[in-house]
Amino acid sequence: MNGTNGVKAKPVITGEEALHIESAYHGYPDTETGRTKRVLTNIDLLSESGEFICLVGPSGCGKSTLLRLITGQERVQQAKHFDVFSRPVGFPDKQRGVVFQQYTLLPNLTVAKNVRLGLEFQADLHDLWRPKWRREANLITMKYLERMRLADAANKYPQELSGGMRQRVAIAQTLVTIDMFGMPKVLCMDEPFGALDPGTREDMQVLISQLWEEHKMTVIFVTHDLEEAVFLSSRLLVLSQYWTSDQDDGSKLSGSRIVMDIPLDKHAMSTEVKKTAEFGALMKQVLDTGFNPNHRRHVAEFNLEHPKSFQSLSLEEDHLNGTFHERDIVT
Ligand SMILES: Nc1ncnc2c1ncn2[C@@H]1O[C@H](COP(=O)(O)OP(=O)(O)O)[C@@H](O)[C@H]1O
Ligand SMILES: [Mg+2]
Repeated sequence: MNGTNGVKAKPVITGEEALHIESAYHGYPDTETGRTKRVLTNIDLLSESGEFICLVGPSGCGKSTLLRLITGQERVQQAKHFDVFSRPVGFPDKQRGVVFQQYTLLPNLTVAKNVRLGLEFQADLHDLWRPKWRREANLITMKYLERMRLADAANKYPQELSGGMRQRVAIAQTLVTIDMFGMPKVLCMDEPFGALDPGTREDMQVLISQLWEEHKMTVIFVTHDLEEAVFLSSRLLVLSQYWTSDQDDGSKLSGSRIVMDIPLDKHAMSTEVKKTAEFGALMKQVLDTGFNPNHRRHVAEFNLEHPKSFQSLSLEEDHLNGTFHERDIVT
């Protein structure tokens, strides 16, 4: 730790990382002041391929924003690095798959056809007409409709379904492509289980864990449900606007930082683990670290236990040192 800013040194970059985010800043215009309101401040994140990363944090801290930057739906304003598998994030591409909170279901297609659509989007054009491909696509579609307990609704239309069912259809759309194509390499999900009832939600948590084990993909999963996060993640990130530094007593609302980054053993395939004392203690620790506006951690006291976590100098210090070059910035 460095007394001036609690800088934790950057590990060696191998080039194999799924994510390499360094000194990333993002914000939006504030209509009242006409200035930029910073949402994300000095985000550093180095991730090995194959991690199940859960991102939690208080409402409005910028979880969805960070996810949109990773999927390329939005461009980061400033960063030394913002790379997915060594390539700067540009536009959405096939390597990244996204399940949005909003449903992308077409009203004029049945549930089964909506799910199949996920496959058709990813397929080579000439495959679409091959009987063998079509049979396989139908089989996988039916398999996931069953796994998501939607088989009875296969021939219904989206408007005939409840919110939770529609959400399951949207998730099935993504899962079929993972099954058939072994992709995306990075799966980004923004509160995908938000509209599900508790029982179905636990089933989905177990299902997504199994798929992650089977396909060794990198998952970045945003949730506001701490229990879900602790259960699912192999790495838990807490993003929070509640922090202080020597330069900032927390009153300036300078945007959110990663205040906690810890590795977790992900051997729990039964939701029974949620009842253990250890599980409860971890949830409490997360709450204390990132969710209490009256108890802000100093940047030097963030809980960055994960071996790949690091902290860059702040933008202000970096400019003073002359180490932040405009040419490094992805815009
Ligand atoms: N497109 C946008 N324009 C202006 N402000 C935005 C935009 N998107 C998000 N924000 C603001 O950025 C902050 C973080 O939002 P968001 O990433 O949605 O938070 P979270 O997902 O953690 O709840 C909020 O204050 C929100 O109002
Ligand atoms: Mg959000």
